[in-house]
Amino acid sequence: MSFPKAVAVLSCGFFLASGAAAQSLVHPWSNPALAPEVRAGLVLKAMTQDEKLRLVFGYFGSPKTDTNVPPPKEARMGSAGYVPGIPRLGIPAQWITDAGMGVATQRDSADTFRERTALPSGLAVAATFNPDLAKQGGAMIGREARASGFNVLLAGGVNLLREPRNGRNFEYAGEDPLLAGTTVGAAVAGIQSEHVISTVKHWALNAQETGRHVVSSEIDDAQARMSDFLAFQIALEKGAPGSVMCAYNRVKGEHACESDYLLNQVLKRDFAYPGYVMSDWGAVYSTEKAALSGLDQQSAAVFDAKPYFGAPLKAAIKNGLVPKARLDDMARRILRSLFAVGAVDHPVGGESIDSDANHKTAQAVAEEAIVLLKNTNAVLPLVKTAKRIVVIGGHADRGVISGGGSSTVFPAGGNAVPGLGPQGWPGPIVYLPNAPMAAMMARAPMADFQYLDGKDPVAAAKAAAVADIVVVFATQWATEDADVSLTLSEGQDDLIRAVAAANAKTVVVLETGGPVFMPWLDQVAGVLEAWNPGSGGGDAIARVLFGEVDASGRLPATFPQSLEQLPRPKLDGADLPSGTPFAVAYNEGAAVGYKWFDKNALKPLFPFGYGLSYTSFAYSNFSAERITGKLVVHLTVKNTGTRSGKDVPQIYVGAKGFEAPKRLAAFQKMELQPGASTTLSLSIDPRLISVYDSASANWKAVPGSLQLWLGSSAADLKTSVEVPAP
Ligand code: BGC
Repeated sequence: MSFPKAVAVLSCGFFLASGAAAQSLVHPWSNPALAPEVRAGLVLKAMTQDEKLRLVFGYFGSPKTDTNVPPPKEARMGSAGYVPGIPRLGIPAQWITDAGMGVATQRDSADTFRERTALPSGLAVAATFNPDLAKQGGAMIGREARASGFNVLLAGGVNLLREPRNGRNFEYAGEDPLLAGTTVGAAVAGIQSEHVISTVKHWALNAQETGRHVVSSEIDDAQARMSDFLAFQIALEKGAPGSVMCAYNRVKGEHACESDYLLNQVLKRDFAYPGYVMSDWGAVYSTEKAALSGLDQQSAAVFDAKPYFGAPLKAAIKNGLVPKARLDDMARRILRSLFAVGAVDHPVGGESIDSDANHKTAQAVAEEAIVLLKNTNAVLPLVKTAKRIVVIGGHADRGVISGGGSSTVFPAGGNAVPGLGPQGWPGPIVYLPNAPMAAMMARAPMADFQYLDGKDPVAAAKAAAVADIVVVFATQWATEDADVSLTLSEGQDDLIRAVAAANAKTVVVLETGGPVFMPWLDQVAGVLEAWNPGSGGGDAIARVLFGEVDASGRLPATFPQSLEQLPRPKLDGADLPSGTPFAVAYNEGAAVGYKWFDKNALKPLFPFGYGLSYTSFAYSNFSAERITGKLVVHLTVKNTGTRSGKDVPQIYVGAKGFEAPKRLAAFQKMELQPGASTTLSLSIDPRLISVYDSASANWKAVPGSLQLWLGSSAADLKTSVEVPAP
């Protein structure tokens, strides 16, 4: 483009976005002041049909080992996806990568892994109960995605934790729709603040990995809208993600990526979602049906039996089976999202990564994610004067474990414990090289530290017997494409028992994908749940152990005592030959997690919302009022202890007609200095005091009175008020 032309365009009042491709200035849609819909509409008019077809068809960005299909050469090395751009119209390619913890590399792809910063798992981010922090984390991985040449990040996992054995729970945000939707929405907003499209996924009811391609999720419409769908809906409202990824599973017998109910009716009509629906990798089964049901983009078509949206879609349009207007709608939605997040105005590339700053962000999230589950006789924080500290197990001398599958982020410095787990998909097990032991040693330089790998419980107990304090690290590798056992593997429970029997001052640090059983709980003095704590996990664990920061995470999911307490003690499909279709009846409906436990008067191992602090808090002045139809609660929180700390007051609401005795209605993370207090006013989302009515396709406010509780977990309600019927 020549200089005078650019001047002419600028003098027409077009704004030159920083880094904008010079070429983009020549087009009517280059004006960032126009609404994304308008810009998309203008591009669409200039496009040929083949160009539209190009936008809706995705390539895998890596070589697929079982097909020998090479990725397009323009794709980023080892990436999840690539969709060519339309250079003549200034529309960039879509360079697509996983996922919610950071910039991943496909395991199959290369010998070279992209080394990037890993946030703690999605579940850990939810455990912070701090959407601001979730947003900062999102912005951090969005920046790394940009700098790595990606403008689409497959983040935003928000499937409700209905099944604690789901191997992907670590990618999601727990069992409550308000917490999950708010957390993931904030993370998506952070990612997209860097002009990178984020998904939310996997739409919908993708609650277990067992039989994930064949299982059908069966649930009543209203119950789904008040649970899993609500989590997505809140995430869509808060994060405005450019894309929604439809899931592998079926819903009511239909594949999620060709479900008119899920895509056209709920998502696009009822939620008025303006972005595009991309398929999961290998989740498309048809051309016409998928297109007519609302799928807008076939991702990495090589994963499907056929390239359904390539030539077959062209033919279907020619034959009148799919209207041209539908192709326009698909392309318009994709273009709109590219404009809405600024991916057109701010082309990727050129930035550098500030690894130190990003590590600090990951660590800050981990510090607020760690949940103190037990602390007898104030065994924690560890005293810096302890002389002999024995650290056992969990490769705590080398690093912290992360979750497996497509979301795996490979760290700078390489895998701290190579060779573990499957070396092909969905492995390997990756340990991020931020060793808790080293971080602990840095905090107690005068102490004598000893590390044992824990393989020999007798030796571990012997060392423990002569220690001032023992910290046992226990890990669980949770991964995509497999479900998990809630029992710790490889004799770790026996190890903990043996060590605890030898030393009463035994603290257990769990690094797990989600809830686990703790048969040794009564025998140990302290327990921390550190999840998959990410690139700064070792430092974060040490800081919480030594009390440099308060323990302020809260459980985003109920920890059950036994499988018998779950709605489905037996995991459906587990004993079927692979590939055999089956259905899971989600008869608990919207009564997920603590709601199920409440409804059935079950006592969990640890309840939702639970987490101890190193200080203490008191609540007062709890009241609630309806202000112009909105329900608002007021409360005062005081730090009654002797050190600063962070609390999460939680408001629960109950009413006749709810799926369970109570729902989480509001929460707030806050920091208070000793003796300080603060007064909060929180307004309640009207849907949380309503019931969905499928017949009228509407939320209906409950007509009667409401009971509101203020508590510090779903099982620890301190005070309550009743709000009369409106
Ligand atoms: C996963 C998605 C992921 C995609 C691309 C699939 O196996 O279910 O979550 O984004 O692969 O790697």
